Amino acid sequence: NHLRHVESMAKLPSGAGKITGLNAVILGEALASEEDDLVFPSENFSRQAHVSSPQKYLEMYRRSVQDPAGFWSDIASEFYWREKWGQQVYFENLDIRKGKIQIEWFKGGMTNICYNCLDRNIESGNGDKIAIYWEGNEPGLDSSLTYNQLLARVCQLANYLKDIGVRKGDAVVIYLPMLMELPIAMLACARIGAVHSVVFAGFSAESLAQRIMDCRPKVVITCNAVMRGSKIIYLKEIVDRALMESAQNGINTDVCLTYENVSAMKKEMTKWIKGRDIWWQDVIPKYPVTCDVEWVDAEDPLFLLYTSGSTGKPKGVLHTTGGYMVYTATTFKYAFDYKPTDIYWCTADCGWITGHSYVTYGPLLNGATVVVFEGAPSYPDAGRCWDIVDKFKVSIFYTAPTLVRSLMREGDEHVSRYSRKSLRVLGSVGEPINPSAWRWFFNVVGDARCPISDTWWQTETGGFMITPLPGAWPQKPGSATFPFFGVQPVIVDEKGVEIEGECSGYLCVKSSWPGAFRTLYGDHERYEATYFSAFPGYYFSGDGCSRDKDGYCWLTGRVDDVINVSGHRIGTAEVESALVSHPQCAEAAVVGVEHEVKGQGIYAFVTLVEGVPYSDDLRKSLVMVVRNQIGAFAAPDKIHWAPGLPKTRSGKIMRRILRKIASRQLDELGDTSTLADPTVVDQLIALADC
Ligand code: WT7
Repeated sequence: NHLRHVESMAKLPSGAGKITGLNAVILGEALASEEDDLVFPSENFSRQAHVSSPQKYLEMYRRSVQDPAGFWSDIASEFYWREKWGQQVYFENLDIRKGKIQIEWFKGGMTNICYNCLDRNIESGNGDKIAIYWEGNEPGLDSSLTYNQLLARVCQLANYLKDIGVRKGDAVVIYLPMLMELPIAMLACARIGAVHSVVFAGFSAESLAQRIMDCRPKVVITCNAVMRGSKIIYLKEIVDRALMESAQNGINTDVCLTYENVSAMKKEMTKWIKGRDIWWQDVIPKYPVTCDVEWVDAEDPLFLLYTSGSTGKPKGVLHTTGGYMVYTATTFKYAFDYKPTDIYWCTADCGWITGHSYVTYGPLLNGATVVVFEGAPSYPDAGRCWDIVDKFKVSIFYTAPTLVRSLMREGDEHVSRYSRKSLRVLGSVGEPINPSAWRWFFNVVGDARCPISDTWWQTETGGFMITPLPGAWPQKPGSATFPFFGVQPVIVDEKGVEIEGECSGYLCVKSSWPGAFRTLYGDHERYEATYFSAFPGYYFSGDGCSRDKDGYCWLTGRVDDVINVSGHRIGTAEVESALVSHPQCAEAAVVGVEHEVKGQGIYAFVTLVEGVPYSDDLRKSLVMVVRNQIGAFAAPDKIHWAPGLPKTRSGKIMRRILRKIASRQLDELGDTSTLADPTVVDQLIALADC
């Protein structure tokens, strides 16, 4: 049987569906190689897995890229469609030379993602299954909702939104912490065809205002305050400031629907604007617990989510309904080997794409039980995650390398004092996971029993692109392994030429997948320029990648002006524009620098206005400006005084040199002779530790 398979593989046409390294694994070549650190799934795990061997994967993968229409429409048929999609399952043009970039999946199909998450699972007999376990910041504070209860809550809010005039296609901004009301609000929007725009509740008033002004919502949904660890954050005050700023710019929001988060702050203490502000608890419970679904086209927008790029203005990534639904559900099922008995916990906040695709939509589409955690993973102590794992019998735990590294520093005893017996699959996302963190996660957290799915993807991709399928093939610590079904990643050189075999270069994708974003809101030109122009014919991810001799992919980080801090994407230009808004800052240049816990830290070179002396207070106020304009997570780790910045004669800042200075690789500065003023480099080095 095995031989026959290898034979049939040898007959494979080259090109589509060819994955060289896995052939080696099947042939036993990779096994034989000593230098490779291969971590094999246990036989027991593989036996029960959805995809139990490389052969099975190859079979499915091959079909997915040779017949995408057939592969994806078979899967899509498992969902409820009011009307089936048209003749053409998908349409794509990823080649800018052939005209407008366009991606469509299941066009003409009428469906609703909220219906597919809730009603469909209830109709199949899971109404009394727990949909959400909620764990509050304070241990002991918790609650839960069954699928029936969740649907009722969603319908009440949906009815209210309709009542205040929110219609299909209207934007709704959601600025909430990880309360159950956050996924409830997302689903309520989806139910009535409104487009949600969730803004991570760690963003500042200015960032929130910017997003409000871009999509002009009728209503902003928030709560009065939240506790994170032992700190209280007054969210409503941030919203008040944002709404004031957007109103000054002529954008008025009718309603600010505010949830009273009693565990953090009483209603009476909250500042209130009569006529605009409405307490959630005063109105929502009065609405009916059923609400008709708004059937939408597969290509109608589902949500906007802003993300950082290489200019100061965040990009409104737009995802549509049908393809995103099919893609998030399918990736969730296979990459986590999801089974109906699993209890799933993803530590991401719904303010980021991970929370959209893998807290809310992907899991609920599969009828899963999801843990939603309000608090901070280190509160009251570093064992909190494992306390929650044991409490809810979590079997799939999905988190970011930065959390793994910070818990690793706290010592193994915080982990080993909990059972963690329920764990079966671990996941990692947000940045490359370094092999030592991978091993600690695998050995200490997972007791060397649970495969790790290191999922590479992006806000733009909607769902996993390169990821292990646990049980299917051996893992290599630090490698995201192989592409998901339907994904055709390629590595190209600077000229945009595909390179084969063992290599490294720029990571692109050469065909569309259902979960791909369709445009940048209101700026299709920027969409085409940012993602489809650097290497015509491809989607360019912005990441570097190398492929080893076994075909495994190793992500190497961003190659553009984006920094990845604790898995959060921050544009250097955004930080720079915040810094230069400080009256005493003349110029700023920001680069990423390696950071033990955060992956990358933010390192800012700052030139002051003539005559202003250096001081620690000034440093603090520069950091403050960034916190106020973007959010605390974007605060620079280091301010380096710069009498001048290294620029070419045409005035372009040479970041290559700044990166070397920031990481103190002073003997690797390279050629500085093309600088307009080479002496600035010495000045910078002299000030390195001031
Ligand atoms: C960027 C996307 C996708 C959800 C979280 C971040 C980096 C993400 C991995 C991974 C190496 C990763 C990339 C990517 N990234 N996951 N498993 N291995 N790098 O979403 O904010 O859109 O950021 O995060 O650099 O381009 P995002």
